[in-house]
Amino acid sequence: MRFSLAKPSFALLAASLVLPFAAAQTTPSITLTIHADQIKAHASPLLHGLMTEEINHSYDGGLYAELISNSAMHPNDSWGAAIPDWLPVELGDSIASFTSDKTTGPSAALPFSLKLTVTRASASAPAGITNGGYWGIPVSPSTTYRGSFYAKSSDSSGPIHIALVNNNTGFEAAHADVPALTGAWKQYHFTLVSAAETTSSHYRLEITTSRPGTLWFSLITLFPPTYDDRPNGNRIDLMKMLAAMHPTFLRFPGGNYLEGNTIDQRFQWKKTIGPLVDRPTHLSPWGYRSSDGLGLLEFLEWCEDLHMQPVLAVYAGYSLRGQHVAPGPDLVPYVNSALDEIQYVTGSTSTKWGAERARDGHPAPFALKYVEIGNEDWFDKSGSYNDRFAQFYKAIKAMYPQLQLIATTPVTSVKPDVIDEHYYLSAQQFFADAHKYDDADRNGPKIFVGEWATMEGTPTPDFEAALSDAAWMTGMERNSDIVIMASYAPLFVNVNPLAMQWVPDLIGYNALTCYGSPGYYAQAMFGAWHGDQIPQTEQTGVDPRFFYSVTRDSTSGELYIKLVNANSTPQPLQIAIDGAKTINPIAPVVTLSARTPAATNSINHPRNIIPVDSRFERASAKFNYTLPAYSIQVMRIKTK
Ligand code: AHR
Repeated sequence: MRFSLAKPSFALLAASLVLPFAAAQTTPSITLTIHADQIKAHASPLLHGLMTEEINHSYDGGLYAELISNSAMHPNDSWGAAIPDWLPVELGDSIASFTSDKTTGPSAALPFSLKLTVTRASASAPAGITNGGYWGIPVSPSTTYRGSFYAKSSDSSGPIHIALVNNNTGFEAAHADVPALTGAWKQYHFTLVSAAETTSSHYRLEITTSRPGTLWFSLITLFPPTYDDRPNGNRIDLMKMLAAMHPTFLRFPGGNYLEGNTIDQRFQWKKTIGPLVDRPTHLSPWGYRSSDGLGLLEFLEWCEDLHMQPVLAVYAGYSLRGQHVAPGPDLVPYVNSALDEIQYVTGSTSTKWGAERARDGHPAPFALKYVEIGNEDWFDKSGSYNDRFAQFYKAIKAMYPQLQLIATTPVTSVKPDVIDEHYYLSAQQFFADAHKYDDADRNGPKIFVGEWATMEGTPTPDFEAALSDAAWMTGMERNSDIVIMASYAPLFVNVNPLAMQWVPDLIGYNALTCYGSPGYYAQAMFGAWHGDQIPQTEQTGVDPRFFYSVTRDSTSGELYIKLVNANSTPQPLQIAIDGAKTINPIAPVVTLSARTPAATNSINHPRNIIPVDSRFERASAKFNYTLPAYSIQVMRIKTK
């Protein structure tokens, strides 16, 4: 069983569901003929991947497991509190206040800190600072949390008490003490082991002292257990959800996040590697500061953990508010930065940037095949992309001829290997466009649908969107000889209303839990049963809300038949299979369906719509079959 996440639910719901043989005596108006021995094309092994960027608190407050918000204690970028997300703690009659001190910090990247002045404090009335995380810090029973902070004190203040405190009850679920601080910046590590009680996200981290003094803090971090136990790693629940999609690649770091609002705010990969204390953080185009704790190496390790190929997008000299770098000498530093970045990813440890990667903890190079030059450069009204792309293309191909280079819009200066197309459409438009690639030019560049989504449902897509997503996916899958990669966007949303900038998004979560939208499950079904061959098929009879694609697994001989019925009534079909010596009559079927197109999943009702296992027992060379109303199905028929 390859659909690992949903397996328990499938098994539960499957029980002995046997699909009814179509009762219709007359020949259905739609006939699907599959020529099992006529392979029209090879399906791209990379078709179903992921696109990601820092948006909707995808990483900070999302996948990246760090629990402390504004852990670097960056001063406010515009207005409001001096240091966002931090508050003073004054218990009993203690007195304390803090400011942002821009004269001292633990590193050149973090030259500022939180200066805490405690004028009165005692063991029974400590004072300090607190952080509530990303809309709550989740604490589970008997769990180990590892943290650290940088600090110094003018008067050796100590001990420093660190605790996870319940917002409602004041209960300390876990605590640790650091005996004393010194007068110089130093990193202190601590471990918190939670007492047994129920899981809740109503916690905050408190750091307090019981003595008056002046203390400086910076980079306070706290991690729960992470996926594969990576020290600076990812949330386990979200990684498991991604794994269940069987993604083959990860396009990163954007998206708009690559470009930044201005050239200065672009994704500067060199500032996202190495120890966290050497990462200055940066303002993202989505209105909040990124910690860059999930930086270039962490993107690559994410790929490694989920066995995905990196699709590396490099900054190409255009930023969102319209600034661009002129092709020619001005662009050379940006091209060189991309070459360095590729060396960081792929170079041996004898290269400058390969050695840097080894120092960062990953001596083995990463395999890299696809590099994307920029993002959505059709927005650049100066027309400079044609030449900017050519400059990157020539420099990268000269050093790395094996790399496949992706253009973000058509260019005439050189022939890109792949073109990235983006589609954010209504359900109606996707239904209408499901055959877009059937007659596409097979001699042009390959196509990467690097961002696509049906724009229906909030914060995550509803079932109508899942139906049209699935209809669109049948079109990409039927044509995956030219549509070689596709990735939905955006992937993630923290469903706290203050966290999101864009709807709909595929996977929702809060500090504690997560859920998949109906569209998520549709993609997981397509990803689980992809196949490597595209047999010749024909459809007679038309229904504008019926869609299909058929692939075949050359090893097992299984046909994967994807069927989508976006109608409110069942869809009778006749399915004919020729060119097969034997056909196993028992066909496993997975169904995603809903009573209405408006039905959906949510953080409070995460499993309204989930795939259900069943089987059809009368597969043969010609059989009638009824596709339920509002349904997406994958039927697997074993042939030889
Ligand atoms: O997916 C959200 C945004 O949509 C991406 O950042 C950008 O590439 C596109 O315009």
